[in-house]
Amino acid sequence: MQTKIAHIDSLDSPEAQRLIMEAGAMIRAGGLVVFPTETVYGLGGDATNPSAASRIYEAKGRPSDNPLIIHVADPADAEKYAFTCPLYEKLARELMPGPLTVILPVRQTIPQNVTASLPTVAVRCPEHPIARALIRAAGVPIAAPSANLSGSPSPTNGAHVIKDMNGRVDFIIDGGSSEIGLESTIVKIEDDGTLLLLRPGGITVEKLTALGCKVKVANAVTEGMKEGETVLSPGMKYKHYAPKASLILLDGDNEGREAFLKEKLKSSLQEGKKCALLAYSEDCAVYARLFPDARVFDFGSQANEEEQAKLLFARLRETDDFDLDEIYAPLPRQSGMGLALYNRMIRAAAHRILRV
Ligand code: TXA
Ligand code: MG
Repeated sequence: MQTKIAHIDSLDSPEAQRLIMEAGAMIRAGGLVVFPTETVYGLGGDATNPSAASRIYEAKGRPSDNPLIIHVADPADAEKYAFTCPLYEKLARELMPGPLTVILPVRQTIPQNVTASLPTVAVRCPEHPIARALIRAAGVPIAAPSANLSGSPSPTNGAHVIKDMNGRVDFIIDGGSSEIGLESTIVKIEDDGTLLLLRPGGITVEKLTALGCKVKVANAVTEGMKEGETVLSPGMKYKHYAPKASLILLDGDNEGREAFLKEKLKSSLQEGKKCALLAYSEDCAVYARLFPDARVFDFGSQANEEEQAKLLFARLRETDDFDLDEIYAPLPRQSGMGLALYNRMIRAAAHRILRV
């Protein structure tokens, strides 16, 4: 299939407005449009059209038991597709538009294949101006998973989506690099008013708590699925973002990591393995000197978790270009934005964590 690709830097030009209207009309006609959001790129189709939803699963190569998020231009639009509540309204007032997805009881306006027949639907109002303009132009809510092929990291720039989706969708809007770089925070509103955190993201637990919300972090956020545990968010059971090489996370302080690498990385390199390091900016020069045969990827300053979040998926994709055997990276902390990094990285590492 022929994919139209357009770059939009700002919505100010008449040409950009025309492209958005064209993409909106494609969505309304049942087509698929890849678009930027502040978290990651989305692979969008009309959320009220079951055949558009089927096309999304097909284009992504995604099992149809893993439901889609519906994107609305205005938080109040959620009421048309879900049963909202005062807590939703509070979250909407304080945090939307933004990187937050809320799971609510679904209305019949949303077809069953969008929610994988669950009694609930995931609703998000993105902040990115192109995303909001596109939803408005479409005149319908847009169902969109991350626009990666199933199994690869979520795309955070135009080159990623073109690589994964060219030939699979009608239209790709390249709007540059994603501001946040990790997918939205997902919370489920429980009957007792607790927010169950199903996926950490740009809205941190601390931020939700500061608003007076009671937050419970689902076990699967920081752990693997245990035998017999029920799946709260179907996406949790799938293997995610695994790079081709074995990613190994080092749990320890800076000295511990360096001492470990001086032994283990050196011996891997001596065995002829191709190795890489995902390293904090501050460590890159030292590592390049200590381990000249290893490839060093800079994934942001140690103190700046927002920067690490923004770079992580792009770096994981880059590692795949080098036919590597092993990649070592620091294990993030489990608070602030660190929790979202921790959650993505333990999955990418298939839970290979070494205490150093
Ligand atoms: O930032 C984001 O959320 C991006 C952008 C495009 O908005 N979207 C995204 O979608 O990450 P996706 O499909 O890759 O991840 C959505 C996750 C999946 O793990 C899915 O299982 C879960 O949300 N989900 C969707 N509907 C659900 C529901 N009703 N109950 C529980 N989990 C749900
Ligand atoms: Mg995804």
